[in-house]
Amino acid sequence: MAKAKLKVGIIGTGGISWAHIAGYKKQSELCEIVSICDIRPEALNEKGDHLGIDPSLRFGDYESMLSKGPKLDLVSVCTPNNCHCEHTVGALESGAHVLCEKPIAGNAKDGETMVKTAKKTGKRLMVGLQNRWNADSQAMKAFVDKGALGTIYHAKAKATRRRGVPTWGRFYEKAYSTGGPLIDIGVHILDLTMYVMAAPNPVSVVGFCYDHIGTKKAARFGPWGPWDHRKFDVEDYAVALVRFEGGLSLLLEASWAENQADEQFNFQLFGDKGGVQLSPPRFYSEFQGYLTTTEPMLPASENGHEEEIRRYIEAILKGDSAPTPTPGEDALKVQQILDAIYESSAKGCEVKL
Ligand SMILES: NC(=O)c1ccc[n+]([C@@H]2O[C@H](COP(=O)([O-])OP(=O)(O)OC[C@H]3O[C@@H](n4cnc5c(N)ncnc54)[C@H](O)[C@@H]3O)[C@@H](O)[C@H]2O)c1
Repeated sequence: MAKAKLKVGIIGTGGISWAHIAGYKKQSELCEIVSICDIRPEALNEKGDHLGIDPSLRFGDYESMLSKGPKLDLVSVCTPNNCHCEHTVGALESGAHVLCEKPIAGNAKDGETMVKTAKKTGKRLMVGLQNRWNADSQAMKAFVDKGALGTIYHAKAKATRRRGVPTWGRFYEKAYSTGGPLIDIGVHILDLTMYVMAAPNPVSVVGFCYDHIGTKKAARFGPWGPWDHRKFDVEDYAVALVRFEGGLSLLLEASWAENQADEQFNFQLFGDKGGVQLSPPRFYSEFQGYLTTTEPMLPASENGHEEEIRRYIEAILKGDSAPTPTPGEDALKVQQILDAIYESSAKGCEVKL
C-alpha cells in the first residue's frame, strides 16, 4: 500500500510562499499542500486557486487553520518577522513540524521560545536559510571541513546593495520587520559564513547602524522601485565586528542602500594554510613556494528553496536519528548576534553575549 503523503499547511501566502509552493510541488510524491492561511484574501485566493485548494481550506487566521482544518504534519511559516514566533509556536503545539522563514524571529527571545517549544513538543524546527544548499556554498564547506584552510582566524561577510530596498510587504517598517537589511539579508550571509566555518559560540559584538539614505528622498533606481522614505524606520546600513570563542573574529556588513559600485553577497575566510571567497568561488593558498589561486569547477546549483524543502522532508521521513538541516538552534545563534548588533549600535558600546 502507498504511504500517506505528509500534509502541509502554509501560514502567509505572500511573495516567499511561491518558493515554498514550488518546493513542495517538486516533492509531490511525498507531500501535499492541503490548507493555507493569510489575512489578505487576495493573496490567499491567488495561491488557493493556483493550488486548487477548496475554499473551505483557505483560512483568514492561523488558529482556525490549525484547529478546524485537516491535521497537518508540516507547516511553512511565511509571515512577516514579527509573526514568526506566534505562528511557529502555534503550529508546533498543534503537532506539526515547522519550516519557518528567516530570520528565526523578530528577536532572540522569541527565537528561544520557538526552539524551546520544538524541544517540548518533540517536533522539528527548521529555518529557511536556503543559501547553505547552493553548489558554491557546499564547495566552500567541503574545503573547510577537509582542513584546506588550516586554522581559520578571521572572516568577512557582506550582503550589500547600492539601492535595493524591498518595496513589497512591510520590510522597512520596524513594527513588522523588526529591522532592516541586517535582519533581512545580513542574516543570510552571517548564517552562511558561520555554517561554512563551523563557527564557535559568539562572545561579544560591536555594531553600528545607519539610516542616512533610507529615511531621505534619495535617488532610488533599485530593482524594486521607490520606497516610501516617510515610513522607513529601520537601518539602511549596518556594520559589526563579532568576537567568537577562541579569538576568531568576523566583520559583517549589510545594506539595502549604500553609495558603492554594485550588489555584493560574499564571504571570505582567512586561515593559516589557505583562504576562500564565495563569489566568485576561489581558494587561495601556496604550492611549492608559490602563491596559488584555485578556481573550482562547480556542478549546477540546485534551487536553494527547493533543496531546503527536499532536505527537510527527507529528514522528517528518516525519523529522529536524522539531523534537521538548518535547525532552529543555528538560526537562534545568528539572531542573538543580530540583536547584539542593534543593541551595541543603540548603546554605543560593545555588547557581551
Ligand atoms: N528566504 C528568503 O530568501 C526570503 C526572501 C523573501 C522573504 N523572506 C521572509 O519571508 C517572510 C515573508 O516575506 P514575503 O516577502 O513573503 O512578504 P509578503 O509581505 O509578500 O508576505 C507575507 C504575507 O503574510 C501575510 N500575513 C501577515 N500577517 C499575517 C497573519 N497574522 N496571519 C496570516 N498571514 C499574515 C501577509 O498578508 C502577506 O501575504 C519574511 O519573514 C521574510 O524575511 C525570506
